Amino acid sequence: MAMDAITALTTRASNGKLGEPAPDAETLRLCFEAAACAPDHGTLHPLRVRVVRGAARERLGELMADTLRRHNPSTSDEQLAQMRGKALRAPLILVVGAHVQSQAKVPAVEQVLAAGAATQSMLLTLHARGYAAIWRTGDAAYDEQVKRALGFASHDAIVGFIYAGTAKQTAKPPKRLQPEEFVSEWFSESDPSAG
Ligand SMILES: Cc1cc2nc3c(=O)[nH]c(=O)nc-3n(C[C@H](O)[C@H](O)[C@H](O)COP(=O)(O)O)c2cc1C
Repeated sequence: MAMDAITALTTRASNGKLGEPAPDAETLRLCFEAAACAPDHGTLHPLRVRVVRGAARERLGELMADTLRRHNPSTSDEQLAQMRGKALRAPLILVVGAHVQSQAKVPAVEQVLAAGAATQSMLLTLHARGYAAIWRTGDAAYDEQVKRALGFASHDAIVGFIYAGTAKQTAKPPKRLQPEEFVSEWFSESDPSAG
């Protein structure tokens, strides 16, 4: 039975300890259907998702290591090898991007936010279907060459890399804020109840 929406929303947590099996085809399809229902100002459809699995992860790892080498030429071979291996930490990676239309009336940041909202919908779908995932970025997400290699233009944004799979161990979520810590009532100046 599928998890109800409120349970999914209030129990989702990142998990970086991921293994096989990767999300099945039906779950991925649901992820993408959910992503397509995320809010999108002006319905500009900025969302782009690249599915990376199998040997393609090695190519992504190469791009990540190459980013590190260019940003920090003195990086040791060991550190580069470690970076190369990072893309192998999950059986499946969804590269989430925003194709930004710079000339549109809708500000670029809102186009990126739309892709961010879609990212959360995908994370929640994975969780509701029993899979684990983590949203990561890092230098590679902002690197021109990585963007180009993944088919994005320089004015596009890589919103995140969703690493997805099956939890190898349970993750301890960070302490969640209580609503009182970030929610407050905003009163009208003429409202006598405002004190
Ligand atoms: C835009 C964005 C980028 C992130 N990049 C990273 C990252 O590169 N590495 C990482 O460990 N966590 C990253 N996170 C945070 C985790 O995905 C996670 O949300 C956070 O650690 C809180 O844990 P939780 O998801 O269990 O609540 C990112 C989150 C967002 C929204």
